[in-house]
This record gives sequence, structure tokens and C-alpha cells, in this order.
Amino acid sequence: MINLCPSSIAIMLYLAEKFQTPDFWYPADLQQRARVNEYLSWQHTAIRMNGSKIFWLRLMIPKIMGVEVPKEKMDGALEDLNNSLNLIEEKYLQDRAFIVGEQISLADLVAIVEIMQPVGAGLDVFNGRPKLSAWRDRVQAFIGKELFDEAHQAILGVQENMKQFDPSKLELFKPKILRLFF
Ligand SMILES: *[C@@H]1O[C@H](CO)[C@@H](O)[C@H](O)[C@H]1NC(C)=O
Repeated sequence: MINLCPSSIAIMLYLAEKFQTPDFWYPADLQQRARVNEYLSWQHTAIRMNGSKIFWLRLMIPKIMGVEVPKEKMDGALEDLNNSLNLIEEKYLQDRAFIVGEQISLADLVAIVEIMQPVGAGLDVFNGRPKLSAWRDRVQAFIGKELFDEAHQAILGVQENMKQFDPSKLELFKPKILRLFF
């Protein structure tokens, strides 16, 4: 359970392999490649961090570990996530179809996987964000709904799966986890 976040990278690699990476996933064109790289370097400490923080604060910590999350922690995390989503819309997407431009790339794949983390914890991040929703629909249409759903099944089914999870398995890590988030 602890390795939920790394699993999203596995999903990305799975997709990349599945499509045998034609040029558009990671374009040879230097300017376009720079856009992909720019996004990939930004996302670790921004949407990835903020998205998985929501995942832990909304789901793992209260529901699995049984520890109450202080309201100001939750509000702060929601604000950080909001800021990251604003940046994705205003800086990375602007009026383009995808992050690089007219074509999908690895940046979009990584982005959708991370954005689905808080969705998996029951937070509808697409609500009130028509630009982000339209982009999500384009990504989904491109890779195909079936594959999209398959790739996200793990994260979307996590609330269901949690019911069978034995919380004592987390006891050992509890102090560390709490130190990380509180
Ligand atoms: C999210 O960010 C937008 C733009 O800065 C702001 O108008 C909105 O109030 C923020 N929402 C939350 C929940 O923080």
C-alpha cells in the first residue's frame, strides 16, 4: 500500500511501452522536448507532491490509520493543490490542446496520473475547471477509454480496496508518516 505513488510511474512506463514510444511522446524537436522536460521537472515538487498529500490526508491517515487530520493542514493542502492545478491550466496548457501543443506527450500522461491521485481519494478536482476537464477528455480519447480506465483502476478502486486493508501493517511507519505530513 505504501508504494501507491511509485505505481503511477509504473503505469506511465507501461503506457510508454505499450505504444512503443513514437516521437510525439518525447519529441526529438528540441523546443518541444524542452517543454516536456520543463513539465517533468516541475511536477515532482508540485502537483505530484500536492496530489499525493491530499491522498494521504483525506484517505490514508484518517481512514486507515485512524488519526484525525487538523483542519488547517487539510485547508493548506487543498490550497497548494489548487495552486498547482491553476499553474497547469494557466502556464502548461494555456490555449493548447496538450502540454507540448497539438500533440500528446509523456508530460500529459504523467500529469493525468498525478491529477487522478486526489480523485482517487474522493476529491473531484475537475469540478469548476472546464479547461482541465476538456484536456482530460482529450487525453482519455487519445489513449482510449478502456486503457485509461484500466490504468486508473488501481487508484480509483483504492477506497474499496482499503476496506480489506489491515491497518496494523502501517503501525510501524505511523510516526514517520505523521512526521512527514504534520
Ligand atoms: C483556487 O484558486 C483560484 C485562483 O487563484 C481562486 O480564485 C480560488 O478561490 C481558489 N480556491 C480554493 C478552494 O482555494
